[in-house]
Amino acid sequence: MLQQWRQLIEARTGMVVEPNRTTFLQTNLASRMRELGLSDYAAYYKRITEAPDWMVEWSVLVDRLTVQETRFFRDTDALRTVEKYIAELPRQQLSQTPLEAWSVGCATGEEVYTLCILINEALTQRGLKPKFGVTGTDISTPALNKARTGIYPERRLVEVRPEIQQRYFELVRPGQYQFDRALMKKACFVRENLAELQNALHFRMQIIYCQNVLIYFKKWRRREILRHLTERLAPGGLLVLGLGELTNWQHPDLERLSTEHTLAYRKKSGAL
Ligand SMILES: C[S@@+](CC[C@H](N)C(=O)[O-])C[C@H]1O[C@@H](n2cnc3c(N)ncnc32)[C@H](O)[C@@H]1O
Repeated sequence: MLQQWRQLIEARTGMVVEPNRTTFLQTNLASRMRELGLSDYAAYYKRITEAPDWMVEWSVLVDRLTVQETRFFRDTDALRTVEKYIAELPRQQLSQTPLEAWSVGCATGEEVYTLCILINEALTQRGLKPKFGVTGTDISTPALNKARTGIYPERRLVEVRPEIQQRYFELVRPGQYQFDRALMKKACFVRENLAELQNALHFRMQIIYCQNVLIYFKKWRRREILRHLTERLAPGGLLVLGLGELTNWQHPDLERLSTEHTLAYRKKSGAL
């Protein structure tokens, strides 16, 4: 029965539940079934796959089965690559066209708001108006709803520098911080399944940031996802991945940047 669940999860989300995560799968299915008053895996499976009004239940379950670990300023090296990229973009381009960034698999939004801070700082330091937008996409609706509140527990801010914390966060309850409301307007959150990226409507993104997500997918699917992301990157755009998320991958439209601790590519300016 568990094998059937694994196949369903992989077919619908692309995520692989490795055999070493069997207990995780079992525990989460069992706890959700208890909440629903069901005692039989097969009955739960039948409802999820056959009853149209159980689509909402599917999204609850997917939320339980995804790993949403994240925090602000999680990967310094990858973020430095983004900073350097923005610093080298022509002033004229930045003042005329809003800079569009995309955080793929953004979980509860910390990565999206980190990019908002970073881009805001980079543009203001160059004396430019903060013309930009950051889109966060994820499969988990509850995670996206949390992201939209912009409220975070203190532990998610451990890597935020004190002056940045002071400028962009407000203590709203003991141990709970509200992200800057004005800057929140630059962010938008969309539910999007990486297994269905061919339908994604974002195009000509200047920065695509995809960290700690591809590891949950089979290698062929990672390549497929990256092909779709590359298509959605603007000419000259930056693609940043987690180190080791895919080895020996190349795309004719991309050139690998010589970054030491991160995997980053730039789309050739002649590419469509
Ligand atoms: C470990 S978190 C990474 C969060 C953030 N990128 C970071 O590095 O801190 C992985 C995220 O990928 C999302 N995810 C997993 N499968 C997905 C899919 N098929 N489509 C979209 N998002 C997915 C999960 O819901 C989860 O929020």
